[in-house]
Amino acid sequence: MTKRLSRRKFLHATVSLSAGLPLLARLKAAPPPVRPAQGNFPVRAIASANGLKAVQLAYGRIAKGTDPLAAVVAAVNILEDDPDDLSVGYGGLPNEDGVVELDAAVMDGPSHRAGAVAALRNIKNPSQVAKLVMETTDHVLLVGEGALRFARANGFKEQELLTQKARKIWLYWKQSLSEKDDWFTPPDDDLDPDVAKFFGRPTGTIHCAGMNRDGDLACVTTTSGLSFKIPGRVGDSPIIGAGLYVDNELGSCGSTGRGEANLQDLCSFAAVELMRGGLSPKDAGLEVLRRVSRHTTDPRLLNDQGRPNFGLKFYLLGKSGDYAGVSLWGPAQFAVADRKGARLEDCALLHSGDN
Ligand code: GLY
Repeated sequence: MTKRLSRRKFLHATVSLSAGLPLLARLKAAPPPVRPAQGNFPVRAIASANGLKAVQLAYGRIAKGTDPLAAVVAAVNILEDDPDDLSVGYGGLPNEDGVVELDAAVMDGPSHRAGAVAALRNIKNPSQVAKLVMETTDHVLLVGEGALRFARANGFKEQELLTQKARKIWLYWKQSLSEKDDWFTPPDDDLDPDVAKFFGRPTGTIHCAGMNRDGDLACVTTTSGLSFKIPGRVGDSPIIGAGLYVDNELGSCGSTGRGEANLQDLCSFAAVELMRGGLSPKDAGLEVLRRVSRHTTDPRLLNDQGRPNFGLKFYLLGKSGDYAGVSLWGPAQFAVADRKGARLEDCALLHSGDN
C-alpha cells in the first residue's frame, strides 16, 4: 500500500483540519482572492463623500488583483470601525431607545448574488456579516435577532456600539423633543460642542462600488440608518434594488440619504435598468431623482416650492467607464479613485441650492 496520500484523501484531511477552526477564523486566515489582471476595463472605485479613504483602499486592492467585493467591504470597514463617523457602524447614532441598529448589504456582479442584514445590534461590521450571508447561506436578508445569532455563530464579537459622543447627541434629542415630558430642554447657548455640530436629525451611510480590469463589479452599502428611528425601522441600505444594485453587464448604483424615498421607487435597480436602456450613469441617476421628486406628495416632506425637503444621493458606476454622483440638492460631492488618484468630485444636482 502506498504511503502517499491520494488527492481525495489529502483534500478530506485538509477540510477536516480547517473544520476545527471557528468559521470567522478560517475566513480571516484565508487570503483575499487575488486574480491576475486580464481585461482592459478602467479599474475604479466610487463612494459617498465620506468614503475618500475607502475608495483609495478599494482601488489599490482591486488594481492589485483583489476580488472587487472583498476590496469594497474592506474599504467600508474603515468607516464602520471609526467612532467619529456617526452614521455607520461603531459610533453610529442610535434608535429612539438609544440602541444602535445597523443595516448593510453587499452585491457581487459576476455571480449576481447578494447578502444583507438589517436591524443588527452589537456587531460593528454588518457589511462583513452581509457578505457571509451571501457566501455561506441560500438566503439574501437576515434581520434583527436572527442576524445577530448568525453573526454570533460565525464568531463575530459582540460589543456596545453606542459611544459617549453618540449618547450625548441622542440624549439632547430626547431632552429637546417635547415640552410635554419630564425632561428639561438644555439651553441652546450652552450646548456641548459635539451636540451643537449635530443639531437636527443627521443622516449618513456609506456606499462603495468597485470595478476591476475584467469589468467585474461589486458594491456594498452600510449604515446605522436614520438617527433616532423607531426601533426595528429598516431603511433602503440593506434592500437589494434600493440601497444598492449591480448588473455585471451594465454597472452599479447605490444610495445615501432618506431611505424611505428610495424604497418607494427602488431607485438603484431602476437606475441600472435605465443604463440598460442607454442612459449614461449621470442621466440615469438624475431620472430616478426626478421620479422621487414627482412621487413626493406628503406636505411634511415638501419645501415651500413643493420640492422634496430631504437629501438623497446616488453613486453610479458604469461598465463602460462612465461614473457619476447625483443629488437632489447641492452642494454635494462623491469620492472616486482610479489611475488619476483618489479625489472628491461634484455631484450632478437635480435642484440647485440646498434644501
Ligand atoms: N439611507 C439610509 C437610511 O435611510 O437608512
